[in-house]
Amino acid sequence: MTTEFDLGALLAERGAERYELHTRYLNHQLPRMLRTIGFDKVYERAEGAYFWDAEGNDYLDMLAGFGVMGLGRHHPVVRKALHDVLDASLADLTRFDCQPLPGLLAERLLSYSPHLDRVFFGNSGTEAVEGALKFARYATGKPRILYCEHAFHGLTTGSLSVNGEDGFRDGFAPLLPDTAVPLGDLDALEREVRKGDVAALIVEPVQGKGVYEAPPGYLRAAQELLHRHKALLIADEVQTGLGRTGRFYAYQHEEGVEPDLVCVAKALSGGYVPVGATVGKDWIFKKVYSSMDRVLVHSASFGSNAQAMAAGLAVLSVLESDRVVANAAATGEALRSRLAALVDKYELLAEVRGRGLMIGIEFGRPRSLRLRSRWTMLQAARKGLFAQMVVVPLLQRHRILTQVSGDHLEVIKLIPPLIIGEREVDRFVDAFTAVMDDAHEGGGLLWDFGRTLVRQAMANR
Ligand SMILES: Cc1ncc(COP(=O)(O)O)c(C=O)c1O
Repeated sequence: MTTEFDLGALLAERGAERYELHTRYLNHQLPRMLRTIGFDKVYERAEGAYFWDAEGNDYLDMLAGFGVMGLGRHHPVVRKALHDVLDASLADLTRFDCQPLPGLLAERLLSYSPHLDRVFFGNSGTEAVEGALKFARYATGKPRILYCEHAFHGLTTGSLSVNGEDGFRDGFAPLLPDTAVPLGDLDALEREVRKGDVAALIVEPVQGKGVYEAPPGYLRAAQELLHRHKALLIADEVQTGLGRTGRFYAYQHEEGVEPDLVCVAKALSGGYVPVGATVGKDWIFKKVYSSMDRVLVHSASFGSNAQAMAAGLAVLSVLESDRVVANAAATGEALRSRLAALVDKYELLAEVRGRGLMIGIEFGRPRSLRLRSRWTMLQAARKGLFAQMVVVPLLQRHRILTQVSGDHLEVIKLIPPLIIGEREVDRFVDAFTAVMDDAHEGGGLLWDFGRTLVRQAMANR
């Protein structure tokens, strides 16, 4: 007898317990943090760039699930591909045959980087990075990886070794032998590669933490330097890839950059199925998989699974048919330039930067005495509190989800689904302007909330 399993009934019966279940069985700090900042919402439904709560209020998503929902939620083409692949009852993951979908997705993905030849499919961004680190070390026969300050490449141990923030690393040592260099500093890079033990530099062309961009010419010059010293360039495009910055890959903004390895994940499956890809040059793969004995030397049980591959193919097809990358470039530029125009109006606003639909809004020390004392009070308690003070009313009052871009940074990051248009740009700019108006009036609820954040920061010390 088959046991009946009714997902709808289970959710109807127990869905309301979501926060309690999380508190009891999962990372209990998540519900605690959400309650503290009033983010403990119950979202019932989602589509495109919006969620809805039980009362039917819509929320604009400017976070895209940390970038995985590149096409927004529940894209009909991706959804259909997933239904189709389940209905096809494929003999997937036999592990001793060659399925068609991984080959087809690899072929299609490689068409966006003609200088690269082969793909390894894993299940997440960090796994794509782990693959690249291993491949680079094996192919060069050298141990050390260079990474950039502020870098984020995932949180498994190898990726953590190339993480630019102590907050993530502390307590997990010893990690791999790796060394940080400042993003854009070619002299520092040269000093390290000259030592002769460097396998690769891993770099995000636009950093996820803080939205710092590699300066013009850096990637190309770094590549030449690395190659001269028989080391590799790894581009981590986990967040920036698949059109986020207005090009398929962010390294493509600069002429002549041809990374030896490229890490892809997040948006590749449209947010439905975990997926990761390490894309690289033929000689690297040939070296790693140099004999039949080594066929499984780097592999993953769920890698290349049919659902992830079908979703990936559907996503790449939609990127082309709906001209999604061009939309990210145009809509991103419209949003960035309208926000940048506010820098002169608001003294708390320091800079708006980024490319395509990856935008950083940085706050800074105001000029006027009246605001400066409040700013200083926040900074003394903890850096990043002002950005938090903006993110909260954006959700509470304007129903827009955003995030602070990294610990101790006064930067908000916008990484909405790449399908947003004028309506969403208007809604965000209007809401942001209203929050900035409040902040500059210097009184009222916003700064009261700031004082609450200060008290909490002090209590957490
Ligand atoms: C640039 C970059 N690399 C790697 C990762 C890790 O990806 P995942 O969370 O899928 O392991 C992230 C995640 O945010 C990322 O932004």
